[in-house]
Amino acid sequence: MLRDPVQFMVDLADIGKIARVDIGSRVVYVITDFELLHRMLVENSDAYERGLLFERIRLIFGDSLIVADGRQHKDLRRLLQPAFHRSMLESYAPSIKRHADALASSWRPGQVVEVRSALVRLVITNLLGALFSHEPDTEELRLISGLIEDIGAGAIVGSVLPKRLASLPLPVNRKFLSAGRRLLEYCQELLVARRAGGERRNDLIDILLYSFGAEPRSDKFLAEQAVTILFGGIDASTAALTWALYELSQRPEVASQLRQEVSAAKELSPHSLDQLDYLNRFLNEVMRMHSPLLQTRRCVTPVELDGFTFPAGTDIGYSIAAVHRNPNIFADPNTFDPDRWSPSGSKCRSFVPFSMGNQMCIGNNYAWAALQTILHSLLSKWDFQPVATEKLPRAMGPIPVVRRLPLEVRPVSVLSSGREL
Ligand code: HEM
Repeated sequence: MLRDPVQFMVDLADIGKIARVDIGSRVVYVITDFELLHRMLVENSDAYERGLLFERIRLIFGDSLIVADGRQHKDLRRLLQPAFHRSMLESYAPSIKRHADALASSWRPGQVVEVRSALVRLVITNLLGALFSHEPDTEELRLISGLIEDIGAGAIVGSVLPKRLASLPLPVNRKFLSAGRRLLEYCQELLVARRAGGERRNDLIDILLYSFGAEPRSDKFLAEQAVTILFGGIDASTAALTWALYELSQRPEVASQLRQEVSAAKELSPHSLDQLDYLNRFLNEVMRMHSPLLQTRRCVTPVELDGFTFPAGTDIGYSIAAVHRNPNIFADPNTFDPDRWSPSGSKCRSFVPFSMGNQMCIGNNYAWAALQTILHSLLSKWDFQPVATEKLPRAMGPIPVVRRLPLEVRPVSVLSSGREL
């Protein structure tokens, strides 16, 4: 599993629609079939709580949206949802574009850019700008990206450690807890500063500070909700963007077609970006090929799945990566092909990069608009070329991706006057 986690999950489908996997000292039954997944996440979601991966992050995130269940989850979701409504994207888009343009303008022709770290900083800047109305400085960006990395690694390693090791003061456990504390403090400082300043903005911090009405909540509780959003948003968005640039660097014909569409597009709004047919097909294909590897639930009552009865307390996981590489759903699933997506923009029902049901990604519309806007900005200026490197180390996160990706940037105008026109 460690050598090639995606292929491991994909191969589980050969065992059956649900396959037993031993993760550390735990047994998880992993669903690889879309209809069973729909049954668990949509039709019978009340029979499940969050499960293995969430036990660990609850140590940091307390009772926040990403770990809550039942009534508590429903209430938090209703409260936070307005910050992610499609109508809010119009107001977030200009700052996302400004930051992406600034990154693109900071590169020089022929420069080898380590794009993953550049992208993680951009993703953090955008999230803090849009949802917290805050412009982080270089030091804050360094701090937050390090903290998210330590929390992500600690969450995954801790979930697979035997229970008796998970609570020992091992370096991975200590780093995980202290990174969590520091990120909570950081978010709490932003909340306290906003409250003290008294100004009102139409953003997530305002929602947190002023939406609980007669039910005042502690600053710690509010900071936990903010940390949840940062944690949920940073890793997955960075991985998707990193893979997007990687795929472009490997496929000159796709890059060329995409660049032609991008350079012809004038007006930029979330709506007009939705009209860019090839950009959206390309993004669909990036998200299909590079999907979340494993999410977990635990049944709270006995459940029947595919003819088997699982007693209450069974850990049941699901792999979007396995569903998206299932040859019965997507022909020739290991081939990267944006043209497999219909021009009408209609998506296949089994394409669920943000999951489904009441605990699906709350940031899906934001994430999609940010991916479109960032790619549009970067591709308007640059072409990405592969650079010979040794095998690149892997980062730990929901979507497996390399930890570093050096790419050479070449100006688009040079290419268009030579190779393409
Ligand atoms: C390409 C980008 C993204 C992908 C692929 C992605 C994927 C997902 C998936 C698969 C889940 C469901 C997890 C589960 O079933 O346990 C999820 C949940 C969540 N995501 Fe995302 N996500 C992305 C971006 C974002 C962004 C930008 C934000 C915030 C700004 C965000 C915040 C969250 C939160 C808070 C949850 C928990 C929702 C709940 O339990 O109600 N995600 N995400």
